[in-house]
Amino acid sequence: MIFSDQFNTSVVVNLTYILASMLFIFGLKLLSSPETAKRGNLVSSSGMLLAVLVTLLDQSIIDFTWIIVGVCIGASIGYFAAIKIKITAMPEMVALFNGFGGIASLLVGSAEYLNGVNQNPALLIAIYLTVLIGGVTFSGSLIAWGKLSETIRGNPFLYKGQQIVNSLLLGLLLFAGLEMIYMQGMFTENQFQILGFICLLAFLLGVLFVVPIGGADMPVVIALLNSFSGLAACAAGFVILNNVLIVAGALVGASGLILTNIMCKAMNRSLANVLFSGFGAVKDTGVERNEVQGEVRPINIADTYLILEAATSVLIVPGYGMAVAQAQHSVRELGELLEANGAEVKYAIHPVAGRMPGHMNVLLAEANVSYDVLVEPEDVNPIMDTIDVCIVIGANDVVNPDAKENERSPIYGMPIIEVDKAKTAFVLKRSMATGFAGIKNPLFFKSNTRMLFGDAKESVSSLVAEFKG
Ligand code: TAP
Repeated sequence: MIFSDQFNTSVVVNLTYILASMLFIFGLKLLSSPETAKRGNLVSSSGMLLAVLVTLLDQSIIDFTWIIVGVCIGASIGYFAAIKIKITAMPEMVALFNGFGGIASLLVGSAEYLNGVNQNPALLIAIYLTVLIGGVTFSGSLIAWGKLSETIRGNPFLYKGQQIVNSLLLGLLLFAGLEMIYMQGMFTENQFQILGFICLLAFLLGVLFVVPIGGADMPVVIALLNSFSGLAACAAGFVILNNVLIVAGALVGASGLILTNIMCKAMNRSLANVLFSGFGAVKDTGVERNEVQGEVRPINIADTYLILEAATSVLIVPGYGMAVAQAQHSVRELGELLEANGAEVKYAIHPVAGRMPGHMNVLLAEANVSYDVLVEPEDVNPIMDTIDVCIVIGANDVVNPDAKENERSPIYGMPIIEVDKAKTAFVLKRSMATGFAGIKNPLFFKSNTRMLFGDAKESVSSLVAEFKG
């Protein structure tokens, strides 16, 4: 026989990895549009299934027991999480999954390090990066989960000497890395000690990296952590020399970075500014965050209906409250009734509305709102003064005029949907409570704003009922 069995298996495995990688890339392409996103998910998952199955052919597997135990535990947790988690808790779940990706890579790197076979400097660098990025992703994602689920305060936490502590930490990490890679045994013979020290520092760095970022800046951190989880997996791929893990990790890392860039643009800020300036922190402005700023004008369903009935152009602006109320289906119905009544209806989507990238797009797609009627803030802001009515459904921070008018506001500079310029704005929410950034919204006190208090789904359903007569 010219080729050994091992050679043949390796060819089959690597050819299948190429096919799986192609499916990932094609899946990502399909994910870029709401119309094809479902198919994209299916194509990418098929690629992953293929990659997992063919990896099980690996000649170096001597016992499948632990693999089967791991697959059963992981699949059960994944299944129950997908079935049980409420759609409103999806952002927190995504943050946790990023973290689990990080810790999985850290464990792979650690196991390989403690195995101690054939550890050349290149392999040790890959192990070090896997443990470092995996650890930062894990602890950082746990803090992000805490902030998103409001288990811990969402506000940025800044303290004196923060830069010094961070520099010290980075210095220690560098030193520990050199000890691991080049000076094995110079300071400690014990692999456990050096690995434990690096893990501890990486966890601490993850916490200190996310804690000072909060408020309206969280979308950037979430996208970045997503990218880190991919980079950690990519490094783990180099550690165990698995081609498909390298490709999949690089794809997640790169797409996470692209998303981070989109989120930075949405906030009109550079990444360095987000990471190091504590945007969203209370500035010493002498102005109370929750200072009352004028008269609130509530409106009831009947009067709202009369104004909507006469409107020829309506802009619907959904936000996190629409997700909480699960009002998307009633919103679509209202939109259709308004159109049937002769109004032109559009939906303005802010890139950071909700609690995860694309949150509003997903909800509206689920309710079968056509992609053609969705518009971006920059498309609609220039013509805002021609719009008869804006219906703000559970949005708050993304329509806060302080972002463009009040230099002392913590969100000053963030682009918003300028509903305050429309002829009339209806704001549907339950109270005068603040949004995620925790800051008061002067829109609620403007003379052309009417507050329609109540749960968004109940309010929209009541308006639908009025239209149906
Ligand atoms: P928010 O500013 O968070 O405001 C949501 C509003 O919805 C709240 O003021 C709340 O007021 C209202 N609400 C909640 N439940 C409701 C219900 N059942 N019916 C009606 N209203 C309800 O939302 P936004 O404008 O979408 O802005 C998103 C914020 O989250 C931004 O600051 C963004 O930076 C941040 N963030 C975004 C992401 C991503 S990736 N998109 C991730 C993390 C953080 P009431 O309590 O008075 O009803």
